[in-house]
Amino acid sequence: MIDKKIPVILDGDPGHDDAIAWVLAAVEEKLDILAVTSVSGNQTIEKTTLNASKILTLIERPLPLARGAARPLFAEPMVAPSVHGKTGLDGPALPEPKVPVLEKGAVTLMAETLEAHPEAVTIIATGPLTNVALLLLTYPELKEKIAAIYFMGGGIRHGNWTPAAEFNILVDPEAAKIVLESGLTLVMCGLDVTERALIMPSEFDEIEALGSEVAKIVAGWLRFFYEFHAAKGYTGAPLHDAVAVAALTAPELLDFKALSVEVELTGDYCRGATVADWYGLFGKAPNVKVAMGIDRDKFFSWIKSHLEKYGRSA
Ligand code: BDR
Ligand code: CA
Repeated sequence: MIDKKIPVILDGDPGHDDAIAWVLAAVEEKLDILAVTSVSGNQTIEKTTLNASKILTLIERPLPLARGAARPLFAEPMVAPSVHGKTGLDGPALPEPKVPVLEKGAVTLMAETLEAHPEAVTIIATGPLTNVALLLLTYPELKEKIAAIYFMGGGIRHGNWTPAAEFNILVDPEAAKIVLESGLTLVMCGLDVTERALIMPSEFDEIEALGSEVAKIVAGWLRFFYEFHAAKGYTGAPLHDAVAVAALTAPELLDFKALSVEVELTGDYCRGATVADWYGLFGKAPNVKVAMGIDRDKFFSWIKSHLEKYGRSA
């Protein structure tokens, strides 16, 4: 029994790995999920919001859900059907969405949630940082109510959508810049670590064998997600977004390094790159705690132990 839970807002663009991150977060006893917000990224905002409602319906968690930004702050919208399919969450059939989407938008829901909660709240952001940046711009006075922002995005050593840039940051680099320069406590789970958080094909079967409806769907999501990655030479499915949940609730699985990280906004090849001052050349204090390593086997055990909490189907 945990005495004190960490209050969190989940913000993402589901998306297979966002979906799995949320499924795990929902049964993580250290977390108290106050609100869920969608953002455009892996698919359009209509699709990621619909998926968010379906995920919450699947796990029977009717949390406050609001629709977020339909497009990045300045950049042209970009989606990722090659990775996540036409719906943004292709693969296993999901229940009809029963969790309502609130009239108020994501930024309003986030602000009201921060205002109402007695303690500072942590944001776990697993999509482009558009909603989070808009929250900081619109309600700067609420910064003190944000305990930390854990985000999946970027890569110190490389990108995935371009050689230099990772998808979430590339979609909305200006938003990422606002977040990186916010002065808030930031924990970055980028490709350096998330591409090592591989779930292997034999483990999809292990997950399916857990027997619950949720575990079977997670296995199906992993199989769909892996198809794209297998064609690119990955030996497993990189469960990027779930790493952000693990970084907050099981930090002992990861290694972190405090670094000064900037985002590149211009350039023919490097827009959206997260540039880290590995050798201390910027002369700036670190602004981000960057996850650099993960114990992969323990990460998989952590995932399995969470999925075991979903009851078996009759
Ligand atoms: C990130 O991009 C999306 O496709 C995933 O959901 C993850 O958040 C990985 O680059
Ligand atoms: Ca995502």
